[in-house]
Amino acid sequence: MAGAEQRILTLQLAVCKGLGHDSRPMLILGIETSCDETGVALYCTERGLVADALHSQVDLHAVYGGVVPEIASRDHIRMLLPLIQRVMDDAGVERPDAIAYTAGPGLVGALMVGGGMANGLGLAWNCPVIPVHHMEGHLLAPMLEDEPPRYPFLALLVSGGHSMLIAVRALGDYRVLGTTLDDAVGEAFDKTAKLLGLGYPGGPALAELAEAGDETAFDLPRPMLNKPNFDFSFSGLKTAVMLEVRKAEAAERLEESRADLAASFQRAAVDTLIAKSIKAARAEGLDRIVVAGGVGANKLLRKEIAERFEGEVYYPRTAFCTDNGAMIAIAGALRLAEAATAEHIRAQARWSLETLTAPAA
Ligand code: KG4
Ligand code: ZN
Repeated sequence: MAGAEQRILTLQLAVCKGLGHDSRPMLILGIETSCDETGVALYCTERGLVADALHSQVDLHAVYGGVVPEIASRDHIRMLLPLIQRVMDDAGVERPDAIAYTAGPGLVGALMVGGGMANGLGLAWNCPVIPVHHMEGHLLAPMLEDEPPRYPFLALLVSGGHSMLIAVRALGDYRVLGTTLDDAVGEAFDKTAKLLGLGYPGGPALAELAEAGDETAFDLPRPMLNKPNFDFSFSGLKTAVMLEVRKAEAAERLEESRADLAASFQRAAVDTLIAKSIKAARAEGLDRIVVAGGVGANKLLRKEIAERFEGEVYYPRTAFCTDNGAMIAIAGALRLAEAATAEHIRAQARWSLETLTAPAA
């Protein structure tokens, strides 16, 4: 099943996480299919992450400049079973003790594929299933690391679809302090990258181009910084870049300005995220910040938030910032108390994080 377009990562970690939900170790299969990555992982409550596999659909969607939902669903159907087989083989196990799957928010067709597979296998293997909230998965991804954060903490959740600041008091106790009023920050990275002629998704490419640029070359706005709330707005910043691109085009100097524009945009976006996060942490009396979601892979953000915040900062390893099966598997492990017999597929395109509660005992 090896193929040129497959990006498969397999790791074996023998870290004792000691979640202690049960007297015997439990093995949870995690399935992520909410958007354009098929992610599968096996997490053991005693040994930690034991296997992980990921297939990215980025190449399939790149020609369209964005995710095409129908293509995403079809590719999840194609890849999911081989990836499950792969992690089971890697871990040398016949069946897990429970199956966690992303039940939303996300593309409903893509979610149905993962939910259908989880429930079907749950019946076949006679093991319970756990529907997981995708954003809770992102938020809990740092728990996969050797030094996981303790509660409470402030979470900066930044992805292609969300920019949120959340006060996390305990598992399932989430209060959204601020969110984006328009474009999510990952979306702003992607759209700005497009303006600069970079491919889709442009976030990582823009960050790379920025390394060669002068971040002080363009004076771009830091949106909403002076507002007393914790909301974000990134469409104005993107428009400011668009106006600079047009000016540079008219002056026939776009090519030489691209890296400077990328660096100035990245600086403005990162400054905004950090300033709001620190302000929110102080207002809530929180001395730990967790940075998660795709944009959490951004090197400048990771470096500077740790330098500028006087408390502790935690993030998942870069590979687990973007969508993956490991974060769903660990979220399932932490919600093992909710595991139930496979009965129906849960797939919710929209699902507020604040509706979650602590796992029922
Ligand atoms: O969490 P994620 O994989 O998917 C969603 O749930 O949205 O996040 C994907 C987003 C994309 O917008 C991508 O451009 C952005 O994360 N991203 C980055 C970087 N790596 C991924 N943005 C800035 N810098 C990066 N290094
Ligand atoms: Zn995501």
